[in-house]
Amino acid sequence: MNDALSGNERRQNDQAAVIRVEGLVKRYGAFTAASGISFEVRRGEVFGLLGPNGAGKTTTLEMIEGLRRPDSGTVIVAGYDTQTELKKVKMVIGVQLQSTSLFDQLKVQEIIRMYASFYPNSVPIRPLLQDMILEEKKNDRVKHLSGGQRQRLAIALALVNDPQIIFLDEPTTGLDPGARRTLWDIIAKLKARGKTIMLSTHYMDEAHYLCDRVCLMDRGRVIALDTPDHLVRNMRSDSAVEFRLPSLEGAPENSPEKEQALRLLQSVSGVKQLEVRGEWYVLYTDRMQETLTNWIETARENSLAFADLRTRSATLEDVFLHMTGRSLREG
Ligand SMILES: Nc1ncnc2c1ncn2[C@@H]1O[C@H](COP(=O)(O)OP(=O)(O)OP(=O)(O)O)[C@@H](O)[C@H]1O
Ligand SMILES: [Mg+2]
Repeated sequence: MNDALSGNERRQNDQAAVIRVEGLVKRYGAFTAASGISFEVRRGEVFGLLGPNGAGKTTTLEMIEGLRRPDSGTVIVAGYDTQTELKKVKMVIGVQLQSTSLFDQLKVQEIIRMYASFYPNSVPIRPLLQDMILEEKKNDRVKHLSGGQRQRLAIALALVNDPQIIFLDEPTTGLDPGARRTLWDIIAKLKARGKTIMLSTHYMDEAHYLCDRVCLMDRGRVIALDTPDHLVRNMRSDSAVEFRLPSLEGAPENSPEKEQALRLLQSVSGVKQLEVRGEWYVLYTDRMQETLTNWIETARENSLAFADLRTRSATLEDVFLHMTGRSLREG
């Protein structure tokens, strides 16, 4: 990799907060999209906002970037107040919006040059194209790019001013798995060069893989903030045992058979929490082997046939469900 993106902003990973958000509130009429958001982002970390559709991720990001005005609260970015020193903030940040309308008729390198001309200092274009894997496409018109290439161009545009802090709003939504991995690699490289990256996503696997810390958001609030591993561990259940109970499928919600089965499942050794997701029953436990063997025994003793039994580690999705009673994916 070249130096173009590291520029003069390569810094020590000193853990200092480069973004401080305090009590941010944003209302749209009677609706409150952000109700008192507070957190700090440390220098050099990848910080993720994870939450379902409408959680307030874009609203929060855009208040930090100075694109939306909060009703109350403060945002300090690299020591500058976004509400009173926005020009200074703009010099040190790079922003990729959730829906960027690019100039379809322009060629890739033309649009990068145009964006670079907005700043007093910009990075050399060639290494930027190489980093974003767009060199072969530099003379193509934007309208001919694939979804993944467009996203990489949007990130390239966020990097032209060699920002120390980069904001990416759902950078991989709508991309196929290969294009997502390519973007993950690019984000990891930016981090390795000392950039601070704040991104939003509703993919738990992405948040877990990329982020040093994750801020779980729901309905305009921060519901948890920690490293992905700590979030999962704090649930006190690191594993899940899942299966279907075919004999109960189609039975009404409060039928005696179903209630009897739920009581049985609760009583299985080591079960911390029981979830029913459609036809699936999920036993959360931190004693996998004990729970698994006791469940098989219980099922046999009560002549309850299970199907599609599987075990897995708990995920951020489980954490979200645990805290809100809802799935990230349902929105
Ligand atoms: N300009 C606006 N006017 C009115 N309501 C808005 C406006 N912008 C956002 N909202 C509402 O605020 C809430 C939060 O929206 P926001 O875009 O921040 O969510 P998000 O977490 O980014 O969701 P997504 O994952 O779908 O991008 C939503 O209910 C949305 O409808
Ligand atoms: Mg959004």
